[in-house]
Amino acid sequence: MRALLLEQQDDQTLAHIKDIGSEQLPDGDVTVDVNWSSLNYKDALAITGKGKIVRNFPMVPGIDFAGTVRHSRDDRFKEGQSVVLTGWGVGEHHWGGLAEQARVSGEWLVPLPNGLDERKAMIIGTAGFTAMLCVMALEEGGVHPDDGDILVTGASGGVGSTAIALLAALGYRVTAISGRDSNTDYLKALGAKEVMSRDGYIETPRPLEKQLWAGAVDTVGDKLLARVLAQMNYNGTVAACGLAGGYQLPTTVMPFILRNVRLQGVDSVHTPLHRRQTAWERLAGILPDSFYQQATHEIALEQAPATAAALLNNQVTGRTLVKIR
Ligand SMILES: NC(=O)c1ccc[n+]([C@@H]2O[C@H](COP(=O)([O-])OP(=O)(O)OC[C@H]3O[C@@H](n4cnc5c(N)ncnc54)[C@H](OP(=O)(O)O)[C@@H]3O)[C@@H](O)[C@H]2O)c1
Repeated sequence: MRALLLEQQDDQTLAHIKDIGSEQLPDGDVTVDVNWSSLNYKDALAITGKGKIVRNFPMVPGIDFAGTVRHSRDDRFKEGQSVVLTGWGVGEHHWGGLAEQARVSGEWLVPLPNGLDERKAMIIGTAGFTAMLCVMALEEGGVHPDDGDILVTGASGGVGSTAIALLAALGYRVTAISGRDSNTDYLKALGAKEVMSRDGYIETPRPLEKQLWAGAVDTVGDKLLARVLAQMNYNGTVAACGLAGGYQLPTTVMPFILRNVRLQGVDSVHTPLHRRQTAWERLAGILPDSFYQQATHEIALEQAPATAAALLNNQVTGRTLVKIR
């Protein structure tokens, strides 16, 4: 079977397509024929070696995949069944989805919900799944469509694009922040009512600024997230899932103690199974068909290393789907 294999030489990560035997796959009770995978920010860090994502080599990267069960020792799964996997350290410390087969624990798999095929599931992928978790965090924070505008940062990326499409479909008025003026039409087509330039957002904010947002989905972190917090409405909720701009958070307690602002962290890797199933069912029901055309760029496995480098250079828009078979 063909796989993208990461190896390490002189402290450099090398990424090459290799033929490997399925007997080399790690332990696991379900073997899946992988049909689709995708490239997420974390995959790009792993494949380029720019982030310390992979510590044991050789490693097959790919933090998500969709495919068909080839063999199962787990009663919940039968041969031929379509499944999706995101997270659980797959593609980080357990061989992942950028290969023709994967062997994993049945605990990590979600049966595809009605309304999604394997290709659509990987257009959504980890990024889209995380966007759904962020939207659920806003709902759980009590943010309703008539409370005011929702801000989405890192808007052109996988999480940002899917969050815009989800929020717009649910009736929220969405404002997007992007570093790329050239993506304004794309972001409006996804459902953003306004697009603001990231340039105006990177200066250190005052502890409290004019109240502008009922909710926010932040994929960027650092000063931009600090600014978003300073601009939240009384009782607003921010769902923070990313660090595309940096992992620091130079903020003050003022938004929390004077405006009742809630900062909800979102992790997609260890999300419990019942919440995963809910999120996938909701994604299948909410995303309009147009999303799958607008937000997708399809590549072959061979193109993954070059596309990973482009993604970290902020040259990729939306989701990158990887055709494995
Ligand atoms: N918590 C979790 O479980 C989880 C799951 C998935 C992803 N994430 C994180 O969420 C973030 C987004 O992931 P993704 O897959 O959507 O990545 P992505 O497709 O690369 O999107 C990131 C977006 O952020 C913006 N951006 C890039 N560099 C930036 C910079 N230096 N400063 C400010 N904005 C910048 C860009 O949008 P514009 O050009 O429009 O500004 C870019 O498209 C990443 O940090 C990722 O690690 C976390």
